[in-house]
Amino acid sequence: MEKRKILVTGGTGYIGSHTVVELIEAGYEVEILDNLYNSKLEVLDNIEKITDTRPKFYQVDLCNKDAVEKVFAENKFQTVMHFAGLKAVAESVREPLKYYENNVGGTLNLLDAMLKNNVNEIIFSSSATVYGVQETPKYIETMTTGIHISSPYGKTKHMIEEILKDVVTSNPEFRASILRYFNPIGAHRSGLIGENPNDIPNNLMPIIMKVATGEIPELSVYGNDYDTLDGTCVRDYIHVVDLAKGHLKAMEKLESGERVQVYNLGAGNGVSVLEIVKAFSKASKKALPYKVVGRRDGDLAEFYADPSRAEQDLGWKAELTIEDAMADTLRYLESDDSTTNQYA
Ligand code: WQD
Repeated sequence: MEKRKILVTGGTGYIGSHTVVELIEAGYEVEILDNLYNSKLEVLDNIEKITDTRPKFYQVDLCNKDAVEKVFAENKFQTVMHFAGLKAVAESVREPLKYYENNVGGTLNLLDAMLKNNVNEIIFSSSATVYGVQETPKYIETMTTGIHISSPYGKTKHMIEEILKDVVTSNPEFRASILRYFNPIGAHRSGLIGENPNDIPNNLMPIIMKVATGEIPELSVYGNDYDTLDGTCVRDYIHVVDLAKGHLKAMEKLESGERVQVYNLGAGNGVSVLEIVKAFSKASKKALPYKVVGRRDGDLAEFYADPSRAEQDLGWKAELTIEDAMADTLRYLESDDSTTNQYA
């Protein structure tokens, strides 16, 4: 039987590369489209080391409409997993047009090429940020989204969700699975792939990683005066491998049922910044240096997933722990030759 052929946009990125590994190991044929803006070609080498398979790679920018159409014209994909996009929240506030052009414009080119080539299934990398501000910290898929989203980055994710719903309405063949990520952390157990952004990171874990390797002297904890268990912000940190596995389950589910499916992919519990710092320090057997500073604009005190719909519909739930994520992150730091680090 011919293997299902999947195009993964952003497949050399953090979440994309971990999903590519799971897809290959599940027996799918995978090809990657990425512009390498925030990832490195050596990720392909490491995917090959892990899976003994080197996915075909197209260094293409989704903003290049002709190049995107050429990739689809040359292939018969059954499904697209769409990770490609800019995701630096603070940068999106400074440069909104860059985010609308790349994230929304790029997705329009992708969808146009898909429809023209009869590729009718997309799994979209969305984000908990689309929930904006809610009455309660436990987010559920039926909540109203799009209200008081704090950044253009988050607004692009919401816009793309709405675009997908309209495309499904207009095209009876088209199906979309929208996956709302919470806070991805960790790395593949091999230590060969992990989070290694080209740009200056915004997110907590890649910054902790740079503190651990000495590139940044200490972590700035953005506020400890929130109404939470220890005063620092609470988030739902989910291991990237659990997140990747959720994509395979969502793709299988998308074959049937509703043509727009929305799922929270989170562990379902809240962990504070200081608890993350403590967990990393314990795993590395070295106290992570930090100082408490003022709050960061736009931060919410607390939010985490209600993952029950994914559990019931997909038979998926997060299985790896914060401790697993810290151990896997350290293994990646120790083996990752692209950072000058004292862990080698
Ligand atoms: C987590 C907590 C910070 C850095 C955003 C996006 C979301 C998703 C994940 C892409 C917060 C604190 C952070 C630091 C700190 N994006 N922090 N010092 O803001 O929950 O979510 O990233 O997939 O869509 O909205 O994640 O990692 O930036 O912050 O104290 O140097 O860590 O205040 O409480 P966030 P984050």
